[in-house]
Amino acid sequence: MNSDPSKPMVELRAVSKRYGDLLAVRDVSLTVRRGEFLTLLGPSGCGKTTLLRMLAGFETPDAGCVLIDAEDVTALPPNRRDVNQVFQSYALFPHLTVEKNIAFGLQMKRLPKAEIAAKVRHAIDLVALQGKEAAMPATLSGGQKQRVALARAIVCEPKVLLLDEPLSALDAKLRGQMQIELKNLQRTLGITFVFVTHAQDEALTMSDRIAVLHRGAIEQLGTADEIYHRPKTRFVAEFIGQANMMTASVRNREGADALLAIGGEFTLRAHVAAIPATAQSVTISIRAEKIQICGDGAAAENSFAAEIEDVLFRGEMLQLTVRTPDGLRFAVVIANTGGARKPHQVGNRVRCVIHRSDIVVVDS
Ligand SMILES: Nc1ncnc2c1ncn2[C@@H]1O[C@H](COP(=O)(O)OP(=O)(O)O)[C@@H](O)[C@H]1O
Ligand SMILES: [Mg+2]
Repeated sequence: MNSDPSKPMVELRAVSKRYGDLLAVRDVSLTVRRGEFLTLLGPSGCGKTTLLRMLAGFETPDAGCVLIDAEDVTALPPNRRDVNQVFQSYALFPHLTVEKNIAFGLQMKRLPKAEIAAKVRHAIDLVALQGKEAAMPATLSGGQKQRVALARAIVCEPKVLLLDEPLSALDAKLRGQMQIELKNLQRTLGITFVFVTHAQDEALTMSDRIAVLHRGAIEQLGTADEIYHRPKTRFVAEFIGQANMMTASVRNREGADALLAIGGEFTLRAHVAAIPATAQSVTISIRAEKIQICGDGAAAENSFAAEIEDVLFRGEMLQLTVRTPDGLRFAVVIANTGGARKPHQVGNRVRCVIHRSDIVVVDS
């Protein structure tokens, strides 16, 4: 096998896939680095599984090519590619014990018995399934089944592991725990992961980089921080986190800032990467938790007056809706540090403060 460390581990070059009239994947180009945890994130039906199946070899692209470790594998069947896949449904063999499920792939490769035993032992340790070697899949919890599926996939030491929504069948608490374990496992093994999810929290927690997919195309590729704080498009801003989207008109430019008129009511100063032309209408995104609430009368830079219209208790957070005198509404999320003192009540007049670098101009 040719392993050139300077080459990406996975490369998609202008890949498209059509089902009848539907273009499920459109002209996707993407490289995944060696040892990277890359996540394909997007809503149901955006083409994530189709993209993954083309990497695995279960689907053939209509156009473009797939490279794994610098080798063009576009025409190769799944068993000739050095990849392995973990499915949402686990796909365990119900009549085989945990140990035999994990050993299966190695037996297919006809490895010596002692080597198989050692590798299975190691995989069981990695996913913390000690003591469950002889158990049948039907007797395992969802989390344990997921671990068996993982162990079975990593025991063959593939170059790339493909994971299609592997945690979606688990309850919230276990999902959170498995997210951390999976990330640690990936770091320990150094295997390149291509992970698919529609859950933004999963993508943000685990990934080195995230590719946000929309209607079969990559809308934005970047680190969690870039995707979250610098969304390029309206779709990315709205899909991840909670964003206030509004139209603003560019009043003026001052150095690296733009003065934006919001709804004809007030202006906000935005520190933007590329300053749009004066008088141009732009779409801006302001994350709900980037708006700070101060008491009325506080003179603050980059702020506007509003009234609290709604307060939703969410435990550690409060979800507020504030309304400006002209009727513009903003969603605001604040830490519930006031607790039982309840400083934020419906009807309170407040000032909403936004830092100029928290206003992002996006493509609409
Ligand atoms: N085998 C198939 N035949 C016809 N349409 C398909 C097939 N597989 C997927 N699709 C369609 O392609 C689109 C993308 O599907 P998929 O890749 O499964 O999306 P995701 O995994 O993001 O939910 C969807 O509209 C889906 O209905
Ligand atoms: Mg899918």
